Amino acid sequence: MITKSLRPILFVMAFMFFVLPGTNLSAQSDKDSANLKDWWKNAVIYEIYPRSFQDTNNDGLGDINGITAHLDYLHELGIDAIWISPCYPSPQADFGYDISDYKNIDPAYGTLADFDRLVAEAKKRNIRIMMDMVMNHSSDKHKWFEESRKSKTNPYRDWYVWHDGKGETATDKGQPPNNWLSEFGHSAWEWDETTRQYYYHKFYIGQPDVNWDNPKIHDAFKDIMRFWYKHGVVGFRFDAITTLYEDPKLEDEEYVKDKDGNIVINAYGDKTTDGKKTEFYPQVHDVMVEMRKASDEFPSNKFPGTHVLVGETYVPTINDLAKLYGTPEKPEFHLPMDTQIGLGINKFDVAAFRTRISEAETKLNGNIPLIVFDNHDNPRLDARFGDGVHDTDIQRAVSTILFMTRGASLFYYGDEIGMKTTPPTRKEDVKDPVGVTGWPKEKGRDGERTPMQWDDSKNAGFSNAAPWLPVPPSYTSINVKAETADPNSLFHWYQKLIELKKTNDAIAHGDNVMLDQSNTNVLSWIRASGPNRVVISVNFTAQPQTVNLSTPDVQAKSLKTLLKSPGATDPGNISHIELGPFGVYIGQL
Ligand code: GLC
Ligand code: CA
Repeated sequence: MITKSLRPILFVMAFMFFVLPGTNLSAQSDKDSANLKDWWKNAVIYEIYPRSFQDTNNDGLGDINGITAHLDYLHELGIDAIWISPCYPSPQADFGYDISDYKNIDPAYGTLADFDRLVAEAKKRNIRIMMDMVMNHSSDKHKWFEESRKSKTNPYRDWYVWHDGKGETATDKGQPPNNWLSEFGHSAWEWDETTRQYYYHKFYIGQPDVNWDNPKIHDAFKDIMRFWYKHGVVGFRFDAITTLYEDPKLEDEEYVKDKDGNIVINAYGDKTTDGKKTEFYPQVHDVMVEMRKASDEFPSNKFPGTHVLVGETYVPTINDLAKLYGTPEKPEFHLPMDTQIGLGINKFDVAAFRTRISEAETKLNGNIPLIVFDNHDNPRLDARFGDGVHDTDIQRAVSTILFMTRGASLFYYGDEIGMKTTPPTRKEDVKDPVGVTGWPKEKGRDGERTPMQWDDSKNAGFSNAAPWLPVPPSYTSINVKAETADPNSLFHWYQKLIELKKTNDAIAHGDNVMLDQSNTNVLSWIRASGPNRVVISVNFTAQPQTVNLSTPDVQAKSLKTLLKSPGATDPGNISHIELGPFGVYIGQL
């Protein structure tokens, strides 16, 4: 029996043992589940072009095991997720974007078991894996298309877009149904002799467009998505998503004219069309609502946390981008890429950056922007922003905008060490079909797909065999081994920015407001979360600049430097921040 006097003491003890720890535990687990739910809201996503990352079986091609081999490196860099460009079985006409089996791994890159091991090893390091979802087209070697082309009555016939030509006779194929162009040059229609019709391909001849008016296509792609969720991926990057639908009336597109009224001829020698009948049809929103619902419904037990849908969304305006998030009732993408900032301006223009970053802050209905400056389709940062003299400083400046603005950030393998665009110099060396058709005006995308530069040994440590694309000569100094050893390297700059993005709550989630808005040389902004305020200044010029960021709202006697360009001085005061050529300053108020 417990005496009356002991009762309160026991009660307090019980409270301490059972109730208090319980409260702490549940607060912790609330936080964990919020982290799992919201992981993508300031995510750092790293794109790997698998063919070029690391070869482990000496065939000159990167592979899945090559990604697994470098997970410690990626963990050290600080990323949250890897998006792997297509690694499915493929004839490789467009290096994986022509898929012949959506539910397997290309034997050149490994096996499904290798893939499962990658997912498991990545999870140990808290790194998530995302796949590429190519729904606009398959390969012409996919069994769906092989069936489809057999006869007009084949059950797969209406899985693709088939039409009669114009003026066709029993002996003559006539002309394509209209003037639509392939992104990769020439007519988007290919004659198929067996059934004497044309099929539509927005991209390469070996990439026939699937028919999104067919409900079976919708089911097929939802099924593919579930297949990869079962293998533990956490989301997808939707390829060429704005091109799913075309004008059902097959009307010609208008030609694009220059200021003198002459039709513009593109790099392939074709009369340029305006793309208005082959892109941006509103049904894409319905498809994404459907895909999002299927994605949300699938349990995320292999890697707990929200499944995330990223979009390759080159759209003309910020309002078009806003629509791709959908509505709270009918959500679409979590993260449609904002290509306006990082891939739309392509020169250091302070006013343009200020406008576009502010738009991402104010015109996306509070949704999370996904900023991206680089990928496997565009010349690397040196070619678009570099001046040949200050390239590393310029890459510091670009990456500061990438990681220090609000939202999620996406970058491309090799950016973190400053890999340089290295296009082929002879037509016979070109691998990309874009360059093969477009040479010499359009050299294709090989220049931004060269092997990852790991060290200064033969082939930059990428492969013991001849690499599928040549290693740029700059690998002797631009490589992971040299840069991880040098505290002032670009690698360490990326690492520090990512760490700030992950650990400083103003940078992780705070508001993003422009400062010093009339300055035409320096872009400055403030990130604020309650009392925690961080200012960022980036010099867009090769001349030293000094800025004064104090305003009635933003004042501080002292600033604590969080990060600054190598060699920069600590400002005594917010009203006098000195920046070297393309210099960066990040400080806490
Ligand atoms: C996307 C890809 C590009 C590919 C095209 C066709 O734009 O990023 O690499 O060639 O779609 O799939
Ligand atoms: Ca290999």
